[in-house]
Order: sequence, then C-alpha cells, then structure tokens
Amino acid sequence: MIIKPRGTTDILPKDTPVWQKTEQTAREVAALYGYGEIRFPTFEQTELFARGVGDTTDVVQKEMYTFLDKDGRSMTLRPEGTACVVRSVIENGLAGEAMPLKLYYFTSCFRYEKPAAGRYREFYQFGTELFGAETPASDAQVISLADTLLKRLGIRAELKINSIGCKNCRPKYREALISYFRQYEDRLCDTCRGRLNSNPMRILDCKSPICQDIAKNAPKVTEYLCEECASHMDKLKALLDNTGISYETDPGIVRGLDYYTKTVFEFIAPIDRDAKTNELKTLTICAGGRYDGLVEEIGGPRLPGIGFAAGLDRLVAAQRIAGNNTEKTNAVRVYIAPLGEVASFFAQKAVYQLREKGIYAECDIVGRSLKSQMKYADKTGAEYTVILGDNEIETGKAVLRNMKTSEQTEIKLDEIDTIISKEGQ
Ligand code: HAM
Repeated sequence: MIIKPRGTTDILPKDTPVWQKTEQTAREVAALYGYGEIRFPTFEQTELFARGVGDTTDVVQKEMYTFLDKDGRSMTLRPEGTACVVRSVIENGLAGEAMPLKLYYFTSCFRYEKPAAGRYREFYQFGTELFGAETPASDAQVISLADTLLKRLGIRAELKINSIGCKNCRPKYREALISYFRQYEDRLCDTCRGRLNSNPMRILDCKSPICQDIAKNAPKVTEYLCEECASHMDKLKALLDNTGISYETDPGIVRGLDYYTKTVFEFIAPIDRDAKTNELKTLTICAGGRYDGLVEEIGGPRLPGIGFAAGLDRLVAAQRIAGNNTEKTNAVRVYIAPLGEVASFFAQKAVYQLREKGIYAECDIVGRSLKSQMKYADKTGAEYTVILGDNEIETGKAVLRNMKTSEQTEIKLDEIDTIISKEGQ
C-alpha cells in the first residue's frame, strides 16, 4: 500500500466543513478590514527565502524542500507566505499603488520539521500583510484583525507581544546576548551552540529545558530598545488598552524568521489534550510582526510592512478542543426514491431541476432496493422523501413525506420543484 508522506494530512469530507467555515470566516474578517486576496506560486526561486526568511534561520538551514528543476535552477516549495507576497508586490508594481496596501492569502506551506500534534510538514496558513504604514496604529489594527478572527471562531487565545528592536538598537542587544550565552556555551544544546554567533536571539526560544533555564536570566530586549522602538511599543500598548484587547508583554517572543523588526506577536491557544494526563496542550496558532526592511532586502523600494499568519490546521484543532460546533450542517432537502427504470429517468430529471433551483436533492444512482434507499435517505438526514413507482408515473402524482413529522402530502410530479421550494419557506 502506498501511504501519504510523513507529516502530511488527508482532510476528509467529514472534516472539511470546519475548514470551510474557518476559511469563510477569515475571508469575511479580511474583507471587513479592507484586505484583498492575493495568490502566488507554490514554488519560488530558493534565493527568495534565503534572502527573505534569512540564511541563519532553522527554516532555511534545515527545513526547506529544495530541488533543482530540469534546467538546474534551485527552486523551493514555499515554507511561508510573506516573502512570496513581498516578491509579488515588487514584481507587479503594487508598491506604487495607494497605501496602505492590504493583502490576504490562503496557502499551503512546506517545512521539513519533526511531525507532532499541530506540527506538520505540509500545513496551511491564512495570512495577511499590510504595506506602507509604519505607525503603532497599523500594528494595533493588524493585531485586532487576528483578534476579531479568533473571537468569531470561538477560540480563546492569549496574546503575547514584544519588540525585537530595529537595525539601530538590535546589534547592541545581539552583542549582549552573545557575551551572556558564551558563559554557558558548554551547557547549551548543539543547535543553540551553533546559533550563538549567527542568531543568538533564537536561543531565547529554544525548547530544551537546559537552554530555557539559562535563557531565564539573559539580558532582556526591552532594556536595549532605542528611544524610537521603546516609544513605538508604548504607543502600541496604549492603543491595545484603548481597544480593550488584552495582552501580555513577553520578552521571550523572538520569532523564527529573520525579517522581523520592532513589534512581534503570537496568539497562543489549546489545540490538543494529552492522552495520558488529559492536560491541555497549547501552541501558537497565529503569529506575526513588523518587517520594515524586507521589501528593500528583496530588491524593492523602502516600504514598511506588518502581517501575521494563522495556521489553519491549528485553528481547526483549537475549535475542536474548545468544543465548538464543527458539525456538517448541509443535509439533503429531498430524496427521491425511484422504483424501476422509467421512474429512475423521471427522478434524474427531477433532481436536476431541484438542484438548478438551489435545492439539495438526491436520488438513487446505485440501483438499490426501496428498503436500502430509505435507509440511505435517513443516513443523509433527508428532510423529505418521495417514492416513485409505476403508479406515480402513470397518475403524475406522488406522496411527499416529511421525515421529521411523518406528515404526507400528495403532490403533482411536474410541480415537484415548486412545491419543495415552497415547503422550505
Ligand atoms: P510562522 O510563525 O512561521 O510565521 O508561522 C505562522 C503560523 O503557522 C504559526 O503560528 C502556526 O500556527 C502555523 N505553523 C507554522 N509551522 C507549522 C507547522 N509545521 N505545522 C502546522 N502549523 C504551522 C510565518 O509563517 C510568517 N510568514 C507570519 C507572518 C506574516 N509574519 C508577517 N506576516
């Protein structure tokens, strides 16, 4: 048997309704905030991610699905959407349009990670990017978009925010981190030892208990922020307070991608339960931040940006854990059960006409007996059934049965579509 690659998922029809609801809600919220949809390729030139996401990140160093195409060019399956959106904005000249430019997307992403609950090698994101505004007000609006989405989905998430500084103040912080962690170099995990000189901020985010313990007393970024970054953060906090969005400031939020500047944030929520202890497991369901240098880095003009991406797999899991109704709601309105070939001909036409009117109708196409047709109708949750035998075809009349009330009404067959639409009113 051929099985799916490790870390990928099949999303089956019983599960898709909650995905559709999540996507629909995200589209509605994006529209409410004035965002337009953008779509972009599944693979890009590898250089885009090396430059955009950053050479020293885990994503670029260890997790990319990179291949040579038939012409020997290095291509990579997108590990995230921001660099792709930025490339598209530059290439299509959107940077010259009226600002702010607000874009949203749904995308599959590919990262060669160690699969676990809520962590896959192919996963899905709903992302938003806002260009052309550098103010704390734009940060607050982006955060409030995510907040509105999560509330509409019935997910109670904790918001954590931080500032990781800008190109003026971050180098000093970097130096302070390197000299702090150097004292503990022998105890750091292999990955963090490698990060010490290349990307010391990532050590703050390491999951190894020893690195976490060492990181507890590391210098805090807040002590190194320049005046502009500190004041930006203060204004953002005031705006969030004013809107009534609760948050916690967490200097440990550093993010795993290199393009961030100033504000970064994460929404954290339960997505699973431990099978043994029954304890809730929490993960970041939505994360983002400001990236004021990325457009220039990828070859465009100076254009500040801020955005986030929510993992759709995690949003779905969080809704299930929260006990939200994720059931399928689209039940068959009318099931037509024909007996014999002539009746079947009639039934095919009748369901066609009903569907043309936007009514969800079904009839037998398997060749089942009446008994098993009725069982099937019941299984599909059909509201009404109509049985068509020789007699019904001859007289042009049939009995419409309301499956909930058992009420039976005689109907004219050539009026079946109008009668069913009236019944539903
Ligand atoms: P990220 O933190 O790498 O940021 O991913 C965003 C979200 O995608 C995560 O919070 C999580 O919900 C989901 N996610 C990430 N990796 C996985 C995985 N292996 N399996 C399942 N879900 C996952 C970005 O991708 C940035 N591009 C976000 C952004 C947009 N920043 C600014 N604009």
